[in-house]
Amino acid sequence: MERLGMERIAGFTSTGSKRPEVLFGGADSSLPLRMAASSGCRVWDSEGREYLDYVMALGAVALGYAHPAVTVAVVKAVQQGGVGPLAPVLEEEVAAEICRLMPWVEQMRFLKTGAEAMAAAVRLARVATGRERVLGCGYHGWLDWCQSESVGVPAGTTALYGEVPFNDPDRTRELIRSAGDRLAAVVFEPVILRPPDPAWLAVLREETERAGALLVADEIKTVCRLAIGGGAERYGYRPDLVVMGKALANGFPLAVVGGRAEVMGGVSRTWISSTLATEFVSLAAARATLEVMTGQKVPAHLSSVGGHLLSGLEALAQRHGGVVLGVRGIAEMCFLEYRDQTLSARVAAACASRGLLFKRGAYNFVSLAHDGATVDYTLGLLDEALAAVTQLHRGAR
Ligand SMILES: Cc1ncc(COP(=O)(O)O)c(C=O)c1O
Repeated sequence: MERLGMERIAGFTSTGSKRPEVLFGGADSSLPLRMAASSGCRVWDSEGREYLDYVMALGAVALGYAHPAVTVAVVKAVQQGGVGPLAPVLEEEVAAEICRLMPWVEQMRFLKTGAEAMAAAVRLARVATGRERVLGCGYHGWLDWCQSESVGVPAGTTALYGEVPFNDPDRTRELIRSAGDRLAAVVFEPVILRPPDPAWLAVLREETERAGALLVADEIKTVCRLAIGGGAERYGYRPDLVVMGKALANGFPLAVVGGRAEVMGGVSRTWISSTLATEFVSLAAARATLEVMTGQKVPAHLSSVGGHLLSGLEALAQRHGGVVLGVRGIAEMCFLEYRDQTLSARVAAACASRGLLFKRGAYNFVSLAHDGATVDYTLGLLDEALAAVTQLHRGAR
C-alpha cells in the first residue's frame, strides 16, 4: 500500500469492499484504485483507463451506471430542491408502487443504508415481540446488533445475536427452538452462494411462527435482481418484514424496511427517523428504476445474460483447473472460486490489466447494460487472464 501514501480517508476508502486488498488482494501501480466516472457497464479510473465492470457498485446498480431514465429523474428532483421541510409527495408514491409490486409489503419506512434499514427491522421485531434475541444468516451490515464478535461492540449486544446455518433445516430448527421465548426474530439472506432449499425456507417460516418470533428477509442484494420482489417473489416465501436496498434506486442511497402493517405500526412505540430519509432525489431514482425494471423486464434480462456468464465460467473452470476450483453463486450473482488467495489476486490483476474488473469472490453482477456480446468478450478476457496466471504458476513451481 506504499503507493497510496498517508491518505485523509482512514483505511483508504469509506466502503470496505472497495479497498484494493479486497478487490485485488493488494495494491500496486498497475491496478485501478480510484475512479472518476462510470456509464453503462464501463468505468474510468483516475488515470483515465477504461474498464468493463462486473462489480456494479457492489450490486447497487442493475440498470447500468448513469441509466438515462434515472439520470433524468434525478436531475429533475435536484432542480425541484431535492429536500425540504415537509414529507415529499414522492415518498407516498414510491411506497404505493412498492406495495403494488410486492403485495406482502403493506407499509414501509425509507432509510438511506442497508445496515440502517436492517437495524430498524430488528428494532421493530423487538417492539412487536417484547423480546431481545436475534438469529441471523448472512451479512447484514456493520451495525452493533449483528456482530457476533467485534472490537468496540458491547458484550451485552453480541450476546443477543447468534447465527443459523444457511440451508441446514435441522440445525436451524434446533437453534430457533433453543432460543425459544427469548427470540424476537430470525433474519436471513435468501441466497448465500446457492439458492435456498425449500425445506430450509419452510423451517424458517414454521419455526419462527411456532416461537412467536418474526421472520425478516434481508433482500438488500436480491431485490430488483432475482425478481423485482427479490427472493420472496422468486422462491415464494412470505416474511413478516423485508429489507431492501442497493439496486432499488440504481445506486442512489435508499433503503426500505417494510412488511406487515401490524408490525410496521411499531414505529409509534419506538424512534426510527433520519433527517435525510426523505430527500427525494433517491426516491425519484427509485421510481424511475422501478419503471425501467417493470417496463423492460430487467430481472429476466439479468437471468438470461447472467446464465450465459455462469455457463461460460463453468467451461473456464473446467479448462483452468490448475487455478480455478469451481464456480459459485447463481446466474445473477456469481464468481470463480480459486485454489488459493495468491492465485485469485493474480487473476484479478491479470483481468484489470486487460481492462476487466471481475471480482475474485462474492459477487460479480450483470446489469441491463451487459448483453450476450459483452459476456462473450468478458469470457475471452478471463480465458486469457487465467491462461497467463496458469503459466506463471507453472513457472513458479
Ligand atoms: C445482504 C446485505 N445486507 C446488508 C448489507 C448492508 O448494506 P449497506 O452496506 O447499504 O449498509 C449488505 C451490503 O452489502 C448486504 O449485501
